[in-house]
Formats: sequence, C-alpha cells, structure tokens
Amino acid sequence: AARTPLMAGNWKMNLNHVEAVHLLQKLSWTLQDKKHDFERVEVAVLPPFTDIRSVQTLVDGDRMKIKYGGQDVSTKDSGAYTGEISAAMLSKLGCTYVLTGHSERRQYHGEDDALVNAKTAKALEAGLIPIMCVGEGLEIRKENGQVEHVLAQVDAGLAGLKQDDVRKVVIAYEPVWAIGTGEVATPEDAQEVNSAIRARIEETISPSVADSVRILYGGSVKMASAGGIMAQPDVDGCLVGGASLQVDEFAGICRYLD
Ligand code: G3H
Repeated sequence: AARTPLMAGNWKMNLNHVEAVHLLQKLSWTLQDKKHDFERVEVAVLPPFTDIRSVQTLVDGDRMKIKYGGQDVSTKDSGAYTGEISAAMLSKLGCTYVLTGHSERRQYHGEDDALVNAKTAKALEAGLIPIMCVGEGLEIRKENGQVEHVLAQVDAGLAGLKQDDVRKVVIAYEPVWAIGTGEVATPEDAQEVNSAIRARIEETISPSVADSVRILYGGSVKMASAGGIMAQPDVDGCLVGGASLQVDEFAGICRYLD
C-alpha cells in the first residue's frame, strides 16, 4: 500500500503565537537543510487555536510545505456556543487537519465516542482531515483488553461515515499510559493494535479503504524510537506531543529514514 507517512506535532497548550512562529521557522529551516521531501514524509503541526493565524501567515509567506491544523473542533456550525471553534473557521485559516477525540479531551472534558464521532463527521463536512485518536488506559492494558477497547472506539468514532470519508480519516492509536510518561509502547505493541484497526476497517468498511487509511502511533515518541515504530507495517506515522516542541527531536522524527 502506498500510504504516505505523516508526522504530526501536537503542541497541546504550549507556545504563544510569537513562540509558535519561532519554532515553526526553525523547524522549516532544519528540514530545508536536510532537503526534506515532503511528498515522501508528510509533516504537520497542530498549534493552539490562538497561534493558527500566525502559522498560516508564515507558512504561506515562506511557501512552506508543512501542513497544520487544530487540536479540537466544535460539532456546531455557528451560534451561541461560547468558547467553541467551528470546522469552517479552521478550514478558512488553511488548516488541513484537526484532532478529534484526543485522550486529553476524553479525559478532562468528558468527550465520549458519540461526541468524537460527531466532531469527526463535522470536520469531514468542512473538508478537514480528522486525526481521530483512540487508545486504552493502563487498567485495560493490564488486563490485555487493548484491542477490544480500541476497536470499539474505532467503530463508534467512524459510525455513519461514508466510505469515501473514512478513506480520508487518519486514525491515531495512542495508549493513554504512554502519553507524556516517557513510556513508549514497543513497536510490537503499536503493530498489534494498528493491524487490528486495519483489519476491522477491512471487515466493516472495505479492503480498499483499509488499505488507504493511515494509522499513526502516538505516546512518548522520540527521535530514537521513531525508526523502530515506523518499521512496523501498519504504522503510517506518529502523533508527537512533547518531542514536537523541540526542533531537533521533531525534525529527527520526520527524518526517521536517514
Ligand atoms: O498527541 C500526542 C500524544 O498525546 C503524545 O504525547 O508525545 O508527549 O507522549 P507525548
């Protein structure tokens, strides 16, 4: 399958718009120095909402090939929803991607599978590519329930979507116990769940969609661990948190083929 790997840096709630511009500029220079081929390994950053306009200006002005997107999106189109950001607003700012169902949204903001499904559908409707996150907590992992848990999240998250829409979705497997803990899953852990996700999509949607859908791994990915994870046949990229705030680390992850 010719799936273009995607390295996405989720900045979470870090960097104001000035810091964002500095980091992105450095990242772009570093990748340029290495003659990075963005068609071969796609690179994206997911800044806080308040940074996106500045990121857009820099990306357009410098004709960067780095893509960007939001960390969350509303299920509503517009109106009296204080604090929310619509998919159309993100799309108007040139966003390519948006995260849905990140475990921190699930954990701290009570997002359930139905809400994640609605956000994913809304993003697609506005022409954004959702990066839909799934993953099990430590208790479930201890009982070896990760595959069952994640497949239920995938089924619910993709429910009711058209085949051609599912084809566009990026799925990110992020075991919650590996996020921000320094505890990276082994390449085999990632492969186990990612291949189960692909098999499920093959069964419930179609073999061709399963073959095209990109499935990322996320959770304490560093430059040193990226190569081993990416060597797995069903890992099509990484969703990177902490390490995406360090230019050399993130550039090193994007350059895992070196
Ligand atoms: O979205 C990114 C993930 O939550 C991973 O974060 O790389 O800091 O563990 P981390």
